[in-house]
Amino acid sequence: MSDPRKLFIKTYGCQMNVYDSERMAEALGPSGYVTTDTPDDADMILLNTCHIREKAAEKVYSELGRLKALKADKPDLKIGVAGCVAQAEGAEILRRQPSVDLVVGPQSYHRLPDLEARARKGEAALDTDFPEEDKFDKLADRPKAKRGPTAFLTVQEGCDKFCAFCVVPYTRGAEVSRPAARLIAEAEDLVARGVAEITLLGQNVNAYHGTGPDGGEWGLARLIRRLAEIDGLERIRFTTSHPNDMEDDLIAAHGDCPKLMPYLHLPVQSGSDRVLKAMNRKHTAAQYVALIDRIRAARPDLLLSGDFIVGFPGETDQDFEDTMELVRTVGYGQAYSFKYSPRPGTPAAERKGQVPAEVASDRLQRLQALLTEQQKARQDAMVGQEVGVLFEKPGRLDGQLVGKSDHLHAVHALAPADLIGKVARVRIVESAPNSLKGALI
Ligand code: 5AD
Ligand code: SF4
Repeated sequence: MSDPRKLFIKTYGCQMNVYDSERMAEALGPSGYVTTDTPDDADMILLNTCHIREKAAEKVYSELGRLKALKADKPDLKIGVAGCVAQAEGAEILRRQPSVDLVVGPQSYHRLPDLEARARKGEAALDTDFPEEDKFDKLADRPKAKRGPTAFLTVQEGCDKFCAFCVVPYTRGAEVSRPAARLIAEAEDLVARGVAEITLLGQNVNAYHGTGPDGGEWGLARLIRRLAEIDGLERIRFTTSHPNDMEDDLIAAHGDCPKLMPYLHLPVQSGSDRVLKAMNRKHTAAQYVALIDRIRAARPDLLLSGDFIVGFPGETDQDFEDTMELVRTVGYGQAYSFKYSPRPGTPAAERKGQVPAEVASDRLQRLQALLTEQQKARQDAMVGQEVGVLFEKPGRLDGQLVGKSDHLHAVHALAPADLIGKVARVRIVESAPNSLKGALI
């Protein structure tokens, strides 16, 4: 048998791309590929791209320029572009960078083996359709290789919300939920292979409405409760959510489903009602705060994470102060904040009142200082507390392991290596800049 071909995938952007990259690697297994960690010895290089903020496409083009040089030494090397830049740019990529052999959008990964074969024959290999069939149904079942303790599982893709700034509804398409039976089977398989924690993924994960094994429609809470019945699955998380899809049962699950971890990423983007309206978020700041109160009533120690955009077109000083005020009111343990970046084809890109770059930078700095302060305070408050830690790998020091706490803080502790993949009780003894130190109980 000939040697396997080597596949190198470079993943940009969100966790869904991380999941998709794994599945692309698996889909190309039957075509004779194994993955490699270095582009230099690869027979195929795939860039799994992100388009959420500006310059993403330009970054991809400059990376492709660099890769072209590799092709000069290795004419058989195939180069592919996948992900949201592939979806948004399509044939333009082949035109601008002729060294590219294959372009595939996020909904067509099940067609990769065919595209790869076409690329090998020197034929055009472009697919940015939104096909009727479910890409996950068609992707080969995961091979039974042993896995690390944590895994992602995409349950829902696409978005129907059309926030005025966002390209996702255009690049990932309309909301599609995978059938619950398939997700249960995939989760059971992951657990059989050593996974103890599963993070359910979706662009709008709490809008999940898949067909249940009983034929009825299941929401995310129902799915989580069913997955929690799997023996050996210790922890469940989900991301990313929209405030308007926080159904009552999902809030309740945070209080009564012990495997659902006390961490919630619930982006609000802005604290100004005027800006929220212009963003087409369809909720007010007060509604968001009231929702947080209800979730915290169900799970008082919940660690809240969020996303913020500053400098949205038309954002005034007062609007920005409203965002600062909302952050003070809510209190975040983790957050991501960005300067608004106009995306071609989105309604906000056409809006008047683009905020000058210096003003946006200044606002971002102030917001990030506040969020960092809150994050540190929340981390410091863990000292003295007892938490569960899922150990993932050896730490830097001899005899040390690192893992994640229930609240997703990185924790290191002296612990025997056979605790890797297990959840142990740990007392937090110290708070360092980006991690906690604990002692086994
Ligand atoms: N500009 C800046 N930030 C954006 N995000 C999405 N689109 C844009 C944009 N055009 C941010 C939002 C979202 C996160 C994934 O990325 O905060 O929640
Ligand atoms: Fe984008 Fe808004 Fe959909 Fe999130 S909810 S993916 S920000 S359109």
